[in-house]
Amino acid sequence: MEANKKAACQCNGMNGEIATASSNHEWLLDPLNRAASHVEQMPFFEWLAKIESPGEFKPAAIQIFHHSSSFPKVIGMMLGVTPIRRGRLYALYAEHAHEEADHHLLLLEWMLQHRILVCADEAYRMIPTLETSACVNIGYEFAASADHNGWIATIGCGIELCALKFFKAAAKQMHQIGTPHEYFDVHVTADEHHSTMGLEYLENTDQEGERVRLVRKALEGVTLWSSMVHSWIGIPTAPRFGMDGGCI
Ligand SMILES: [Fe+2]
Ligand SMILES: [Fe+2]
Repeated sequence: MEANKKAACQCNGMNGEIATASSNHEWLLDPLNRAASHVEQMPFFEWLAKIESPGEFKPAAIQIFHHSSSFPKVIGMMLGVTPIRRGRLYALYAEHAHEEADHHLLLLEWMLQHRILVCADEAYRMIPTLETSACVNIGYEFAASADHNGWIATIGCGIELCALKFFKAAAKQMHQIGTPHEYFDVHVTADEHHSTMGLEYLENTDQEGERVRLVRKALEGVTLWSSMVHSWIGIPTAPRFGMDGGCI
């Protein structure tokens, strides 16, 4: 993050950062907020609010471990495919990769602490659901095509926004049942930042066609994320959203 942005962030707090981003990117953030609010009303969040022990959370925890451990690698690939002439993106990806780098280890620590794993190897041997793989793989798709706009809109704004809603609810629940951990707490502020980071680097968004593509792609990210979390609790679903973010 540039020094002046950092200063603005410290002054305004993260909400100030979101407010500034929102005023310039309503065309993208409004539909995403609408779609993510719909997802928040879906059965996964009801399930989460009823968790009473770490063991009940295991089906989700072990799958997020896969997502959290793959994510820094995919971000690193985005850095690797950044053209030198777009070198301002280096800091964006480096910061994001650095901030995500140890999250899976924090989660592993929590899982071992509460003995929901027999050993660490159980986490590494887990098999992701098709939906968890799909939600990770869309990141590889952006890396393979060096689609920086697609990444920022979909992974940044769409999937990180869903993750923010999830971690807010999960952190609260873990505090309520007496099993909080830095893994959950750190995401509440981190993902608030991640859900708007990089918006200033979007290119060609004065073109209607690019705006439409990015909104559609970002909403696809929300669909993939929703399918992923519901696959953890055995509910097959893939909510589709219109261009305004309303559920179809
Ligand atoms: Fe994370
Ligand atoms: Fe994040």
